[in-house]
Amino acid sequence: MAVLGATGYTGVELLRVLAQHPRVRVTVVTSQQFAGKPLSEVYPSLAGKCDLVLEELDVAKVASRSALAFAALPHKTSMEVVAALVEQGLRVVDLSADFRLHDPEVYRQWYSPHKAPRLLRQAVYGLTEIHRRSISRARLVANPGCYPTGAVLGLAPLFARRLVRGTVLIDAKSGVTGAGRSSAVELSFSEVNENFKAYSVGVHRHTPEIEQELSEIAKSTVSILFVPHLVPMSRGILSTMYVELKRRVSDTELALLYKTFYHNGPFVRILPYGVFPETKEVRGSNDCVVGLRYEPRAKRLIVITALDNLVKGAAGQAVQNMNLMYGWPEAEGLRGAALVP
Ligand SMILES: NC(=O)c1ccc[n+]([C@@H]2O[C@H](COP(=O)([O-])OP(=O)(O)OC[C@H]3O[C@@H](n4cnc5c(N)ncnc54)[C@H](OP(=O)(O)O)[C@@H]3O)[C@@H](O)[C@H]2O)c1
Repeated sequence: MAVLGATGYTGVELLRVLAQHPRVRVTVVTSQQFAGKPLSEVYPSLAGKCDLVLEELDVAKVASRSALAFAALPHKTSMEVVAALVEQGLRVVDLSADFRLHDPEVYRQWYSPHKAPRLLRQAVYGLTEIHRRSISRARLVANPGCYPTGAVLGLAPLFARRLVRGTVLIDAKSGVTGAGRSSAVELSFSEVNENFKAYSVGVHRHTPEIEQELSEIAKSTVSILFVPHLVPMSRGILSTMYVELKRRVSDTELALLYKTFYHNGPFVRILPYGVFPETKEVRGSNDCVVGLRYEPRAKRLIVITALDNLVKGAAGQAVQNMNLMYGWPEAEGLRGAALVP
């Protein structure tokens, strides 16, 4: 296997997860700025777990030494690399946004003109719990965004049952690693510490991705209002969703609906009615935990999900998808519990 962009936060998380996977050997790790250096010099935490030397990204070399590549590269950079890898016959799990949107025009509106639009039709959206069967046959999996994973998993059972009326409000808070290993001033310690702010209010790029997936599940056009926030922690996303329902649904019906929907999903955990998740209980694990309560005065269902943006929101889900692509047990290498406290 190859990890492209191995020095980024999702890349290094992939290597941590893959080091515990019994069937995988990583053979290529790439970086632009650290090419030629041992990976363990950049990340001493990986010494003895992955002792490879970082290489410049060379598609032909990657293709000759691996069967599947995880592309953990920035969007726009990823699309050309992924297209070349697929051309060479490799399987690819792309962690960027480049192949998540089915419509090249929507991609153009939110990102830029797409350079491999034909591949969008071939790519399978990698929200494992929703697209298992297609993922297991896919050559190119577009791993979901971190926010969309928490939002769509929390809302999918309601849309599948067509219980939702109107626009869903999604209020999400993320740790700083969600932005990658960046030197941007607004992500520096003194800017982030003891601070809490909204950003990309109502215009975040994950909006069309969430709407695309929920619309497919609902079989009708879904619109959402999405406001992300930055909180002073390294990992984790807590998403609070406010949903108007077409009819009153009892606590037992809700619990049954969610448990049935995720009955074969090892990583989506539904909490008892009225109990809500915290980011600490998923830190380092591949779990997405869901809490539910109906508030009768406001006539809204409140759904709260928690996940680790680098694991279920990125590297863990990518490995879950790889397992399906190879016909291996879905949870292989991913059974580790969260790091608590
Ligand atoms: N962070 C998250 O929570 C998260 C969650 C889900 C999805 N994603 C997506 O996953 C992708 C990776 O995210 P990240 O957070 O890991 O980003 P990151 O920390 O910024 O890492 C980016 C990686 O890509 C490499 N790279 C950058 N430009 C390159 C180029 N032109 N050619 C070759 N390699 C290049 C970097 O290498 P060097 O710096 O060593 O040169 C680094 O290894 C992004 O598309 C992101 O949107 C991120």
